[in-house]
Amino acid sequence: MTTVEKQFPSDFLWGTATSSYQIEGAVHEDGRGESIWDRFSHTPGKTKFGQTGDIACDHYHRYPEDLDLMRELGLASYRFSIAWPRIFPEGKGKINQAGLDFYKRIIEGLHQRQLTPMATLYHWDLPQALQDAGGWMNRDTALRFAEYAEAMYRQLGASVPFWITHNEPWVAAFVGHLQGRHAPGIKDLPSAVKASHHLLYSHGLATQLFRDHKVAGQIGITLNLTPAYPTHDTPEDHAAAWRNDGYGNRWFLDPIFRGSYPADIVEWFAQHHQLEMDYVQAGDLAVIQQPIDFLGINYYFPNRISAADERKFLALTNSPAIGETSFRGWEVVPAAFADLLKRVQRDYGDTPIYITENGSAFADLKRAEDGSVNDGDRLSYLHTHLEAVADAIEAGVPVKGYYAWSMLDNYEWAEGYDERFGIIEVDFATQKRTPKRTARWYQQIVANNGLPSLPSELEALANRYRNCPIGPQE
Ligand code: FCB
Repeated sequence: MTTVEKQFPSDFLWGTATSSYQIEGAVHEDGRGESIWDRFSHTPGKTKFGQTGDIACDHYHRYPEDLDLMRELGLASYRFSIAWPRIFPEGKGKINQAGLDFYKRIIEGLHQRQLTPMATLYHWDLPQALQDAGGWMNRDTALRFAEYAEAMYRQLGASVPFWITHNEPWVAAFVGHLQGRHAPGIKDLPSAVKASHHLLYSHGLATQLFRDHKVAGQIGITLNLTPAYPTHDTPEDHAAAWRNDGYGNRWFLDPIFRGSYPADIVEWFAQHHQLEMDYVQAGDLAVIQQPIDFLGINYYFPNRISAADERKFLALTNSPAIGETSFRGWEVVPAAFADLLKRVQRDYGDTPIYITENGSAFADLKRAEDGSVNDGDRLSYLHTHLEAVADAIEAGVPVKGYYAWSMLDNYEWAEGYDERFGIIEVDFATQKRTPKRTARWYQQIVANNGLPSLPSELEALANRYRNCPIGPQE
């Protein structure tokens, strides 16, 4: 019998997460319109090796097999996203029935397998037609989003218990409009800040409509939260880390939970970038501050920030790492995850939390005898991060569920297909799916509703993860 070291609450929801553009493929099928990611990925030089999501995991055709795999792993829930351009190819107007039917099939397939659907309305694939009219820099896009959300509540509201308005608006706004590494590939701070406001405003509008229509389920938003730690224990580094936190975390948490943008960052934008947010209209923040039923948190790594390298303030990178790193140099620090969860409750209250993404990419070179990926590093990442979740729950943080990122190896945006986050391997030449060792480990965790003791050969690595400090170094 397995010894279970840490038990989770009996109603804890276990799942995996994906997003439409990263797995579906079938970009021209059944009347789907062009999205900003089709345009971006087909623009030379924008993505690694020019790779696109044209085929991805071909999930559009292979979804029954994928849902079967979730069932086989014993999962209780699945977080997926709806591609807005499948529903409204031009971003608005008349529903494209064939596109909607795909999601009806997914939802029905989930229910048949006793899996609870969690649907994200926006995971970055904006209809290109709306981008042509200014995208998230145009307030009108928020109104179109609200219409799209309303249509989805009407069509799918009865069968989807969990709704997420946006996935990681920080990334959509700042990676898409300041860093330019994501679609639509703009590099301009004022545009990024404006986009962030309209994304938040659209979240508020969609949440209001959810209440107006008395949709049966729950609604929330998913933020990528990145704890920021000072590199050195100096007042300057502490101030820089707080600013980084303001820009990456409080910029979204404060409007949602407190109805205001963080004053220090508004001032910093004004002073250093002559940025005025004159497009914020009276009443917008009250709309954004609609009560949500849950907060989705995506956590991958912390930032280490030093004043000497203030460029990081806008780049939100995470170097230099003290501890182990995963594929993209993302530092593996489970203690930062526990710290973050406790902080969110301390500063923003008792709103239930779902971990809507957490995971890691590794090179996946090691194979077991049966040919499956022997990904001890990913397994240890998953395990030690679930220890962090258990620690937070023990401390009283209301974490209600966990979705591993990702169900499948998939199209990792500008990084293409090299970065493998899946707990299930996808051979992109044949589309063959093979559960990695991590998937089998996760299956055991789910079956036990708790963490069994780690295989002894992984203890040393897990301890390096566990012992990585979060505080400043001397
Ligand atoms: C998050 C995204 C998700 C995936 C992971 C690795 O920022 O929400 O789509 O790319 O990172």
